[in-house]
Amino acid sequence: MSAAAAHQRSPIVLERMAPTHLADVLALGRELYDTSVKPYTSWSLSAIAGHMDADASSCWVALDGDALAGFVIGSMGFDQRTDWGNLEWIASAPAYQGQGVASHLVQACCATLTAAGATAVVTDVESRNTASAALMRRNGFKESVSVTLFVRDAPDAIA
Ligand SMILES: CC(C)(COP(=O)(O)OP(=O)(O)OC[C@H]1O[C@@H](n2cnc3c(N)ncnc32)[C@H](O)[C@@H]1OP(=O)(O)O)[C@@H](O)C(=O)NCCC(=O)NCCS
Repeated sequence: MSAAAAHQRSPIVLERMAPTHLADVLALGRELYDTSVKPYTSWSLSAIAGHMDADASSCWVALDGDALAGFVIGSMGFDQRTDWGNLEWIASAPAYQGQGVASHLVQACCATLTAAGATAVVTDVESRNTASAALMRRNGFKESVSVTLFVRDAPDAIA
């Protein structure tokens, strides 16, 4: 049975991310993020664990039975702003995209961070990621500061 067919039979359930979900979460991220380029180069088990271990953690999985349909990873604090929540990572498995899974994950993550005292929730979106930008706008995020990564290649590469 395909994941999409399974989805029609069992509702997607959101649960707090637990250590038992880590292998699937790490694998789905590796499948969907191009870890050779910013902002995805830091995707790793320790990046996930850092959020899970935080005092005010907001990490959720969307499950279709035992299958991972998506995840969101965040916690309180963004750089030096302890009053901001950080929604750092989100993904939906390809078979579940376009069905509102990520929207539900964004809402759960933001609700947890707001309950923990966040005055705002911050997320960064890579400029070409139109799906992610649309997802965030649809869920109440407004565009703020843009930061462009300037890269200077090594002299040999320039020549
Ligand atoms: C971005 C992503 C998480 C969206 O997941 P999703 O489960 O398909 O999103 P939803 O079904 O909840 O869609 C919510 C909104 O997002 C927008 N959206 C989602 N996919 C889109 C797409 N491919 N193109 C344009 N807009 C899209 C739409 O505005 C949608 O609103 P709608 O319900 O009115 O159509 C998913 O495409 C993904 O996993 N991408 C790869 C990983 C990634 O880039 N993550 C973000 C960086 S950490």
